[in-house]
Amino acid sequence: MASRGAVREMDRKVRALPLSGHVGLDALPDQLVNKSLGQGFCFNLLCVGETGIGKSTLMNTLFSTDFENLESPHFEPRGKLRARTYGLRENGVQLKLTIVSTIGFGDQMNQQDSYQPIVDYVDAQFESFLQEELKIKRSLHNYHDSRVHVCLYFIAPSGHSLKSLDLVTMKKLDRKVNVIPVIAKSDTISRAELHSFKMKIMSELVSSGVQIYQFPTDDETVAGINGVMNGHLPFAVVGSTEAINVGNKLVRGRQYPWGVVQVENGSHCDFVKLREMLISVNMNDLREQTHARHYELYRRCRLQEMGFRDTEPNRKPASLHQTYTARRQEYLREFHGVEEEMKQMFVQKVKRTEAELKDAEEELQFRFERMKRLHQQEKKRLEEKRRILEEDMNSFNKMRAAVELLQAPSFSTAGKKDKDHKNSGFL
Ligand code: GTP
Ligand code: MG
Repeated sequence: MASRGAVREMDRKVRALPLSGHVGLDALPDQLVNKSLGQGFCFNLLCVGETGIGKSTLMNTLFSTDFENLESPHFEPRGKLRARTYGLRENGVQLKLTIVSTIGFGDQMNQQDSYQPIVDYVDAQFESFLQEELKIKRSLHNYHDSRVHVCLYFIAPSGHSLKSLDLVTMKKLDRKVNVIPVIAKSDTISRAELHSFKMKIMSELVSSGVQIYQFPTDDETVAGINGVMNGHLPFAVVGSTEAINVGNKLVRGRQYPWGVVQVENGSHCDFVKLREMLISVNMNDLREQTHARHYELYRRCRLQEMGFRDTEPNRKPASLHQTYTARRQEYLREFHGVEEEMKQMFVQKVKRTEAELKDAEEELQFRFERMKRLHQQEKKRLEEKRRILEEDMNSFNKMRAAVELLQAPSFSTAGKKDKDHKNSGFL
């Protein structure tokens, strides 16, 4: 989107011509108004602040309604966000309002656990819009744009200075979203303290390089009021939906034993300033800044990450087609490189496995040969034993036969001697 200065420069180059009759150009703004009224508006508001600081109460007070509110626990290991979308209607103007609120912000030991979920959420909304834009068949006209248009950052009314978590979180967010700091529960701090607290906060933001949203002063119709209001930042707010009777009038406020703090009384707090600046005067600018500044930056970085360039290294303008072709070739080169590497790895692996298999086969063969050898030796040894045994048996048999032979004649001689003895009359 062209900057306002560039638009004025372009205007100067255009030749102005007078019209000799009514052509209907004066109805163009009405066309825009009618279209916008038909479509309705969409606004996404992010409330960042510690548990119980008054986020939900301020939302109810700002939009004069009762959004469903649940108390957040203090035990979230990592901060979370809750987003709810509502349809509001006032005098025929429709607003699709999304309120995103932190849950457990600042309850963690580690600061990153508090701010990272917020940064991730803001980026995720940009990313889904970018993905829709990059689609061939886009449906941006009925796309629910969830990009965060403003971040109300709730500062605790300590009266001292900002916490380091406040500075870190706002620094992380200031290039992604329009940050408006507010001093919450400002009825708990005295007028003098509040004044010096505001000054201190602003000087700390400046010295830390945090860029909060500045109400625009380049549009003459609102330059005056916006310029003054920039000097009142951060707004000191009080929230309450309780109606209290003050001087026969019902006003929203907080009743204390010593009196009533009126939410909509400019000398009690800056609530009305915030409501005016946020809703009546600058809601459209917040939406435009979100698209033209924050989303543009996100989109540029993401497209560069994807390899898109507006100019080639030789400073010639690069067309989308050229970028696409170059990127495709680069991708193909990378792909072939990886493919070749994988092929090589596969071949190496096959070779390694083959070598391992061969080694295993040789080992098996060697073991088989050794066992065969051992088996043959054992067989030979047993055969030798058997031969010796057979020889022993043969010699034993021979000996036995010889013994039997020797025993046979002596037995017959003994029988004859007996007979002779009987015959000689010893019986
Ligand atoms: P969680 O969503 O639980 O983190 O809390 P929250 O930040 O939404 O705070 P909530 O609006 O629920 O308010 C917490 C308490 O603070 C309630 O008792 C409110 O009445 C009180 N409170 C809210 N706003 C103000 C304020 O401006 N001044 C004072 N004194 N009290 C407030
Ligand atoms: Mg709440």
